[in-house]
Amino acid sequence: MIHQMTIIAVFSFLALFSADAIAAPFDVRRHLSTVTRYDASTDTSNLVSFSSAIPNACQPIHLNLVARHGTRSPTKKRIKELDRLTTRLATLVEEANRDGTSDAPSIPGWIQGWESPWKGRVKGGELINLGEEELYRLALRVRDRFPEIFSKDYHPDLYPIKATQVPRAAASAVAFGTGLFSGKGTLGPGQHRAFSVVSESRASDILLRFYDTCATYKDYRESHEPQVEKLKEPVLEEITSALISRHRLNFKRQDVASLWFLCKQEASLLDITNQACGLFNETEIHLLEWTDDLEVFLLKGYGKSINYWMGVPLLQDMFQTMQEAIQANEENQPGGMYERARLRFAHAETIVPFSCLLGLFLEGDEYERIQRSESLDLPPKPPQDRNWRGSSIAPFAGNNMLVLYQCRDKQDQNSSYHVQVLHNEVPVTLPACGTDFCPFEVFKDRVVLPLLKHEFNSICDAKSVVRDVEVPKPCSWSCKFSNFLSGIFSSAQSQRENSEL
Ligand SMILES: *[C@@H]1O[C@H](CO)[C@@H](O)[C@H](O)[C@H]1NC(C)=O
Ligand SMILES: *[C@@H]1O[C@H](CO)[C@@H](O)[C@H](O)[C@H]1NC(C)=O
Repeated sequence: MIHQMTIIAVFSFLALFSADAIAAPFDVRRHLSTVTRYDASTDTSNLVSFSSAIPNACQPIHLNLVARHGTRSPTKKRIKELDRLTTRLATLVEEANRDGTSDAPSIPGWIQGWESPWKGRVKGGELINLGEEELYRLALRVRDRFPEIFSKDYHPDLYPIKATQVPRAAASAVAFGTGLFSGKGTLGPGQHRAFSVVSESRASDILLRFYDTCATYKDYRESHEPQVEKLKEPVLEEITSALISRHRLNFKRQDVASLWFLCKQEASLLDITNQACGLFNETEIHLLEWTDDLEVFLLKGYGKSINYWMGVPLLQDMFQTMQEAIQANEENQPGGMYERARLRFAHAETIVPFSCLLGLFLEGDEYERIQRSESLDLPPKPPQDRNWRGSSIAPFAGNNMLVLYQCRDKQDQNSSYHVQVLHNEVPVTLPACGTDFCPFEVFKDRVVLPLLKHEFNSICDAKSVVRDVEVPKPCSWSCKFSNFLSGIFSSAQSQRENSEL
């Protein structure tokens, strides 16, 4: 019975994530890769139906959370891009009118005189109200779901809250804490209470900002960004031609890239889906979403092992908290003053690699291929289906939870421990374990220990990597692709750019 229910939960989960398997009408807000809002990515009203079957004799005793910050406004650099788009669109309309190529109905009304909603803003990247709500509500659901874990009075050692040294992550931690401890304090009508959020310095945060402290990764990323752009080009070219004939405006590829960016911001932040998003048809949206997902795959995901191996210290930290919780639990310390939950707030660059360490979102035999150190194919191009979707893996407020359970055997009082893995609050099967309720020893032996050999300081020391500088040559799609793949296995030096999501 238990097994059967687990299997049902697993299949429901797969159905949820194989896009459009559920016959819902197309909604562009679910196809925005990592710009997708949490409520568009996960149906939070329906989470109970995904609970896995946990035996009655098992109680949650500790929880590890790592969450991405919530929905945020565009960064300063992107606000500037939208300001440039305003000028470009005005020029295109003017050209069309002058050349008499415009038959009025083909130019969408909103384009005439369009101004960026973020026009003239000199600050960006902050958590917006929608983003606060995402984390606040997540906290209320987590507290409801695990009352055993959150029943204790607040103490910073029982419920440590950590954020990266980036304001939108710290604000996300505060929004979460506000929900988690609401009604438990004395402050104001909401009976709030103060709690602490601690950040490591940016320069040394290898647990949550490993992507910014790992030199090997930074070299890889900087040297491969241009190649990722090259991979996207054919799709953008094709859509650019389609848009030119559809709307009689002489778009360039860069205009279309900016319009897709605008579409994502409008749809996600403002719920406007009939302006920039309305320029594209459904097929084109699927393709644009795929190009974003390719980038996530290659620069943050399974595309290269350094992308996720550098996240091993985070996994190790979680493993250690679980070992300590088990020990404290076994020793039955007086007063029960030991850590119950460790709550972390970070970035897509943290969540995506962490999900890869657990082996999530793979296809077919890909987990075995990773074990044999074989490289994976790129996520298949639409209309083919795929598991690798930014909108599922790392939407705003996307999260992973590892919940430690103690199971008591009634006969002999002995305990066994299990780890439940939740992704965006839905139980997920660990390929290494074959279940979403993994015996702690199996989790240790098959997931954690094999990864510990990738020691952060040695894999991240750029000097240890052979440098070879590739010269990109013009070539066809397939040639670009093979160049890209060969490039994946080398690393080149270039300058630093910080564009975390
Ligand atoms: C969308 O536009 C493309 C051209 O980019 C065209 O080939 C395709 O048939 C259109 N799809 C739909 C569903 O209208
Ligand atoms: C508990 O587990 C240990 C080791 O597996 C075993 O030797 C022992 O008999 C079990 N029962 C009790 C009551 O300790």
